[in-house]
Amino acid sequence: MSGFSKDALLAAAAALGVTFTAGLLLGRKCFMHESSLKTFKSHGGAKGDPLMDYVLQNSLREHPVLKKLRQRTLEDPMSAMMVACEQAQLMANLIKLIKAKNVIEIGVYTGYNTLTMALAIPADGKVIACDINLGFVKIGMPFWKEAGVEHKIDLQIQPAADTLDELLEAGKAKSFDFVFIDADKQNYSLYYEKCLQLIRKGGIIAIDNVLWDGLVLNPGNDPETLSIVKFNEKVYRDSRVNMSMITVGDGVTLAFKL
Ligand SMILES: C[S@@+](CC[C@H](N)C(=O)[O-])C[C@H]1O[C@@H](n2cnc3c(N)ncnc32)[C@H](O)[C@@H]1O
Repeated sequence: MSGFSKDALLAAAAALGVTFTAGLLLGRKCFMHESSLKTFKSHGGAKGDPLMDYVLQNSLREHPVLKKLRQRTLEDPMSAMMVACEQAQLMANLIKLIKAKNVIEIGVYTGYNTLTMALAIPADGKVIACDINLGFVKIGMPFWKEAGVEHKIDLQIQPAADTLDELLEAGKAKSFDFVFIDADKQNYSLYYEKCLQLIRKGGIIAIDNVLWDGLVLNPGNDPETLSIVKFNEKVYRDSRVNMSMITVGDGVTLAFKL
């Protein structure tokens, strides 16, 4: 991807009718791909992909405020970072299935998935929402309020590893039900280890972008791709969890703590 300029990527994205971009995010490469066609991310309208349109038309049950937040996020130049709405719905269904009450999100961006989780947990549940960029999160906060769930969201603006350490120091090991890891890829293994301590037996860790737009097949020397490949191998071999790698969105691994 390094051979593409940001402008060239944006032009390609416009041609595809979807916003994709590449850039630097707080010193880390935030790597977006010029086409998500290799994987399955929709953002709620997979133009040019009738089968994905069919999936969305026949399965997406999106809360009206979530729809507004998704549409607002699509106006942002970094909108390719947003979770796929059908993936957020799958995770919300898992949250309800296991009756999750305390959940963590690592990487909030505009908070589409944060809002999905806050809507899925009970009135006395909490989402610990971790991000380092308040500017992104501020886009979504009015929608959290409009949906009437802002009181369920505990926003932590600092490196996610610090928040996870604070939770562990506060004696919160084994007290979370569900975690969504969706921030800086090179720290996935670190987040995963800390989250394995934080979730209870039977809890779920969902890890996003495990297919990295198909680049996992040909990682080259890209450090983020290489770290995702290494991480995928680690979870596959990890006897502490049952796991599945799901081809929704950009690929999500579900790890079920034993
Ligand atoms: C892919 S986006 C998250 C998308 C979001 N989960 C959603 O559902 O739309 C990644 C986010 O991780 C945040 N991030 C990057 N490094 C981080 C770190 N060390 N700690 C916490 N958040 C971080 C970025 O600011 C960005 O908002």
